[in-house]
Amino acid sequence: MQATVDYSLLNRQLEALLDTRDWLTNSAQTCAFIQQQLSDLNWVGFYLQRQPNILGLGPFQGLPACHPIPFSKGVCGAAAREQKTQRVDDVHAVADHIACDAKSNSELVVPIVIDGRVWGVLDLDSPLHGRFSEQDQAGIEALVATFVRQTDLPELTATA
Ligand code: SME
Repeated sequence: MQATVDYSLLNRQLEALLDTRDWLTNSAQTCAFIQQQLSDLNWVGFYLQRQPNILGLGPFQGLPACHPIPFSKGVCGAAAREQKTQRVDDVHAVADHIACDAKSNSELVVPIVIDGRVWGVLDLDSPLHGRFSEQDQAGIEALVATFVRQTDLPELTATA
């Protein structure tokens, strides 16, 4: 059982931290902030749709990671394909889970959808089983919304 996290406070802190509109700076700051503030995470980072239906590795905290990830594969691919947050209590129960770090046991992936198109995803991994509650999901989705609101996101590729 995780201690209750004050996501409303974290959101205000992230709003203050993101004091540039630059997507690269803000995405790097956002994943570093989450990694520092939340317990029991072994990887936090962005994957960006820089080619149609393919996620490319973006700023992250943690071990070097898998790249690229097609929309057809893994938990990140499912989040992008379905445009829906994926909250997975046991990644080993997901047949096509992509194991970047053998320590990961649970995962939360929030898609970043702009005008109906997937700009990218934010991926969080934990060594704990069932690390992410519904409250964590809502809290992280709110942090992602703050990132989107306070950032000028670069255009997707023409065909994406
Ligand atoms: N586990 C993810 C791949 C990304 S890494 O966890 C950083 C997946 O199945 O999509």
